[in-house]
Amino acid sequence: MKILVTGGTGYIGSHTVVELIGAGHEPVIVDNLSNSKASVLDGIYGITGKKVPFYNVDCTDLNEFGRIFEENTDIKAIIHFAASKAVGESVKEPLKYYRNNLTGILNVLECMKRYGVNSLVFSSSCTVYGQPEELPVTEDAPIQPALSPYGNTKQICEEIIRDTVSACSGLHAVMLRYFNPIGAHESALIGELPLGVPQNLIPYVTQTAAGIRECLTVFGDDYDTPDGSCIRDYINVTDLAMAHIKAVERMESGAQKQNVEVFNIGTGKGTSVFEVIRTFEDVTGVKLNYKVGPRREGDIEKVWADASYANNELGWSAKKNLRETLASAWKWQTTL
Ligand code: NAD
Ligand code: WQD
Repeated sequence: MKILVTGGTGYIGSHTVVELIGAGHEPVIVDNLSNSKASVLDGIYGITGKKVPFYNVDCTDLNEFGRIFEENTDIKAIIHFAASKAVGESVKEPLKYYRNNLTGILNVLECMKRYGVNSLVFSSSCTVYGQPEELPVTEDAPIQPALSPYGNTKQICEEIIRDTVSACSGLHAVMLRYFNPIGAHESALIGELPLGVPQNLIPYVTQTAAGIRECLTVFGDDYDTPDGSCIRDYINVTDLAMAHIKAVERMESGAQKQNVEVFNIGTGKGTSVFEVIRTFEDVTGVKLNYKVGPRREGDIEKVWADASYANNELGWSAKKNLRETLASAWKWQTTL
């Protein structure tokens, strides 16, 4: 099946393209390279032996974006990764985030209607839950007021998708709420490429271990958790990629129970920051220079997924454990 992957040279997009090829699909990538590099295509080729058609196009440009569908009339589904994703930057530059993330989904949906593409997979986030009252968090948990413009764009995109699907017969969508994606492809030919100083834990850990950063700061050790540090559900990026294949195939086979479905994509296991550090040191044998600092504004204390709906309905589950995943992140770091 021909599938348009927006943001396909990005971190999660590139891993999904590899898995799509492995599952016998034909991905076409559109990416404006605002947060990735064209060399990622070489990594995908190195793993799969396939040269994936690539459009250096901005999804917010409706004319240019529409041209891709005119040249590829057999596109059956879209996996929409393209978005700006830095939480802190979104607080400083909200218009950039609203413009890019909202115009992007509007154009995707517009082109689906215009060119008769019926299936959409959307990258949502556990950020929509805020600090859930009950853990593990299920898909039915109330959506909390967003803590950042970035988080707000995910909530608004979910609403735009629901409204559009309910107004247009034939359209289907699966919204995947990712928990914390980490790690890299086992080949270390593709992985995460953060620009500048990483904001996320794992790239900060690997860059500190590699000597690029002097010291990791643990943001708070006075939370109401067993060791005082925050707890997250760290999901392997290749496992996460597989959930997209399951989602596309579910829509195309007509197995959906509703025209819009939502799935949590996580391991179902919470891990603290100190546990991540200890596991990383144990797996790699590298001693990590770290110190405890104050809490980071806007951080959630603890969140992890109830992924049983994805396990049972989507037929997807996380396969890789934290040790393997941290090893893959380190292997990738050492190739950079
Ligand atoms: P990423 O930045 O690595 O990938 C996004 C890609 O989209 C980049 O290659 C970027 O160049 C491209 N892009 C951005 N705006 C574009 C536009 N207007 N037109 C064309 N291309 C554009 O990010 P990622 O980590 O791979 O995230 C993918 C998606 O998953 C995003 O929607 C993100 O919000 C969502 N998500 C990510 C995480 C995470 O922690 N990484 C967690 C939850 C959800
Ligand atoms: C993980 C834990 C930090 C860096 C963010 C977005 C979320 C989603 C995933 C897109 C936290 C701690 C971190 C450091 C630390 N993205 N930490 N020192 O904040 O859970 O989620 O990415 O949708 O929306 O908010 O991920 O990797 O930044 O932090 O102690 O230098 O590591 O406090 O507990 P987070 P993260």
